[in-house]
Amino acid sequence: MKTYTFAKSQALFRRAAQVIPCGIYGHMSPAPLVPPTAYPFFAARGKGSRFWDVDGNEFIDYMCAYGPMVLGYNHPVVDEAVRKQLEQGNTLTAPAPIMVELAEYLVELIAGAGFAYFAKNGGDMTSYATMIARSATGRKKIVAIKGGYHGVASWMQGGGHHGVVDEDVENMIRIPWNDVAAFEKAIARHPGQIAGFIATPYHHPTFVDNELPAEGYWQNIRRLCDREGIVLIIDDVRCGFRLDIRGSHAYFGFQPDLVCFCKAIGNGYPISALVGTKKMQNEAAKVFYTGSYWFQAAPMAAALATLKELKRIDGPKRMLDYGKRLLDGLTEVARHHGLDLKTTGAPSLPYLRLTDDETLMQHQDWCAECTRRGAYFTSHHNWFMSAAHTAEDLQRTLDIADDAFKAIGTTSKGERRATNRARKK
Ligand SMILES: Cc1ncc(COP(=O)(O)O)c(C=O)c1O
Repeated sequence: MKTYTFAKSQALFRRAAQVIPCGIYGHMSPAPLVPPTAYPFFAARGKGSRFWDVDGNEFIDYMCAYGPMVLGYNHPVVDEAVRKQLEQGNTLTAPAPIMVELAEYLVELIAGAGFAYFAKNGGDMTSYATMIARSATGRKKIVAIKGGYHGVASWMQGGGHHGVVDEDVENMIRIPWNDVAAFEKAIARHPGQIAGFIATPYHHPTFVDNELPAEGYWQNIRRLCDREGIVLIIDDVRCGFRLDIRGSHAYFGFQPDLVCFCKAIGNGYPISALVGTKKMQNEAAKVFYTGSYWFQAAPMAAALATLKELKRIDGPKRMLDYGKRLLDGLTEVARHHGLDLKTTGAPSLPYLRLTDDETLMQHQDWCAECTRRGAYFTSHHNWFMSAAHTAEDLQRTLDIADDAFKAIGTTSKGERRATNRARKK
């Protein structure tokens, strides 16, 4: 099987590094997250489940722009809705009627919803949700999960991160995932001081296995929030619309007070939404929160078209089904090569890991070899399925995976342990 080269990507990266901090910053920054020689740095175009890099290499995309692409790149229905709205106007001196239509649609669609509010990024909404919780309760502290990610504002990043001062995080309490007793302890230690509990619908950190909620977890958290008057915030930025079109809380059977959406909501157009219960609407109204581009009408048109299309085709079900087929296939291919590929999280956004290698280096090598052959995988982050992935994509991916396993070779357990030990030193 042919392997790709990335000369143009690398030349562009060298130029980027002269004028942009890190060349490429944040989650799309190559080093240290992916081996830089095996990955493209710049994308030229996308269509459906695939994108092409600046060297002309074609990839079946299992990162989906880290989540926003959900129906396929350049989706005709979404792009047509955007085009129509652009003809009317995008950023005007007053909001366009599409804003009301989208809010009405979300209130109808999302389980337990009474209002919707729009911004641009996921972090806009997680910050807003914590402000609402603080305003509504008159309390300061926010409980979050250790290793949980809610964006880049200083309160969300841990103490010790560059640019974060202790005061930014002094009101954050981090507890382990799936640990109701830890929440009870936090409540006991800070009586009457906790404003909100924020968590993702299930735990999907990077570099480690993802974890679904234990039986009764969410019901117990809900019960404690009710008892203590704590605002329950679900960060559905990543899982949203890949588990259940009504919100991931509907999938897990509980009702939060506030839910944050972004990524998949607009199929790549810049929009995020906070959806809350009717009871929280007045509390949301009290907090001043806005931005220069938050009223853009075209992304709202994109979101409305995306949600309607996802509902029409039952997108979440399709992504869960195709994800399961992909994972079953990959696990089988790995077994063929004498390796155990563990998959965790939901099949529509799974995290994978070769288990016989605690350093994750073998897994990183395999993902890189898959990417160099046209199946774009990362090893540190969960992948994303889209409704555009086809049976043909899955078959091609399994062939690539097989060839990539051959390329990394399969060494004995003993040899791998010795290599791991050497790498750790
Ligand atoms: C669970 C979760 N919450 C919040 C965010 C932040 O979203 P954004 O990067 O759009 O601000 C992300 C982004 O990856 C996320 O995965």
